[in-house]
Amino acid sequence: MLKFEAYKKVIVSATVAASVALLAVGCVDDVKPQNSTSAKSTTLGIDGGTIYPVVNGKKGPYLVNEQALSHSLNYGRVPNSAELAAWDTDIQPVTALSPEGHGLPEGEGSVEDGGDIYDAKCVMCHGDFGSGGGGYPALSKGNAYDLHKTLTNNRWKDPEAAGPVRVFGSYWPQASTLFAYIKDGMPHPFSGSLTDDEVYALVAYILNINEMKIDGQEVDDDYVLTREKFLKIKMPNVDGFEPKISGKNALPVVRAYFANAKNFGAQNLNQGAVRCMHDCQKATAKIKYIQNGGIKDFKPVMSDVRDLPAKKAEKLDVKKTYAASCAMCHDSYLAPGAPEWANYTAEGMETVYKKAIKGTEGGMPAKGGTDLSDADFKTMADYISSGKVK
Ligand code: HEC
Ligand code: HEC
Repeated sequence: MLKFEAYKKVIVSATVAASVALLAVGCVDDVKPQNSTSAKSTTLGIDGGTIYPVVNGKKGPYLVNEQALSHSLNYGRVPNSAELAAWDTDIQPVTALSPEGHGLPEGEGSVEDGGDIYDAKCVMCHGDFGSGGGGYPALSKGNAYDLHKTLTNNRWKDPEAAGPVRVFGSYWPQASTLFAYIKDGMPHPFSGSLTDDEVYALVAYILNINEMKIDGQEVDDDYVLTREKFLKIKMPNVDGFEPKISGKNALPVVRAYFANAKNFGAQNLNQGAVRCMHDCQKATAKIKYIQNGGIKDFKPVMSDVRDLPAKKAEKLDVKKTYAASCAMCHDSYLAPGAPEWANYTAEGMETVYKKAIKGTEGGMPAKGGTDLSDADFKTMADYISSGKVK
């Protein structure tokens, strides 16, 4: 009796799971569209997915929710100040727009502590002293100011010259990115686990191994980095990018840069090098929209030939297929060879096959959601109902 109760519970949950799965993958014939006021029956599409009625006798692969379309759309609401504050997590460089280094938290950390944290949490990926390797980026390749010069090396002038070395010290225009990156993303995969002081210490250590200076002072082994000192970091490559965003004229400089369409490749538009928001291109191509699954409306008609390579007939591995496609439901209900199978097999195996291939209202998805051939599925049904591999 107890056992029966337990099974009843499992049946209910398996059934719910199965019907959800059915709706999600749309893999059965004759589903009544639930939200549609015109609950006509459906057919299968060329990909085996459900095709739903849309309008004027046309059909499409998506169920049109007519109720949702019958009133105006909901665009959400204006976020409140607490929500905005929670999203406002970026750490900005010192620029005209962010003179105080927007987002940079209070805190401090020493090179010494940073080295210890680095050896505990970073060295396994980023290597000794940030040397990188094994697919993980280097955090230093030596003196940042010397390496910065490699960015303008021209090998066509001097084939012996070192190629550009792009690491934090030589290449990144702003140190705020380093702080934000470590605070947000490292140590992979435990991102977000470091305190602000730990991030300060790690940044201090990375400045140290890049042999950098702050305000003329070397970030040596005894250096303690604070928020105030951080804001004074000047990266060697701060003006190495276009447009230049540093300095108090950053905004007008950036505006002038983007006002000139030549600077961002707009000169190839038919109207010439002018910024534009509409009619930017001469109409050359006719735009067509796929509507109502009506790919036959196209001229020339789009092909709906199924030209995927024929599937290689693989020999059915009964146990493997059970584990991959049936166990998630049948381990808890109607397990292979369970006594309850007698209730099903009493109707004769032909009936069992027929029902299971088509799917049942009790929650059995058609062929268990697989694309097995009928013959292979029958072998599976024999196994699951008897518990024996023939
Ligand atoms: C499990 C490996 C792993 C650990 C541990 C790890 N990182 Fe990383 N780190 C990565 C990977 C991978 C990337 C590159 C990610 C990308 O480019 O998308 C990266 C990128 C970085 C970068 C950007 C480098 C660049 O030039 O793009 C910094 C800075 C960094 N990590 C710092 C740290 C610090 C500091 C720690 C220790 C607190 C740490 N990482 C721990 C895997 C790791
Ligand atoms: C999403 C859950 C689920 C999956 C996956 C699933 N089944 Fe079922 N199956 C059920 C449920 C629930 C029943 C009972 C249905 C009923 O009583 O109507 C059932 C019943 C059956 C039946 C008896 C059908 C009948 O009414 O006579 C067979 C045979 C069967 N499953 C075989 C399989 C095989 C083989 C697989 C894997 C290839 C499979 N099932 C995968 C949930 C599932």
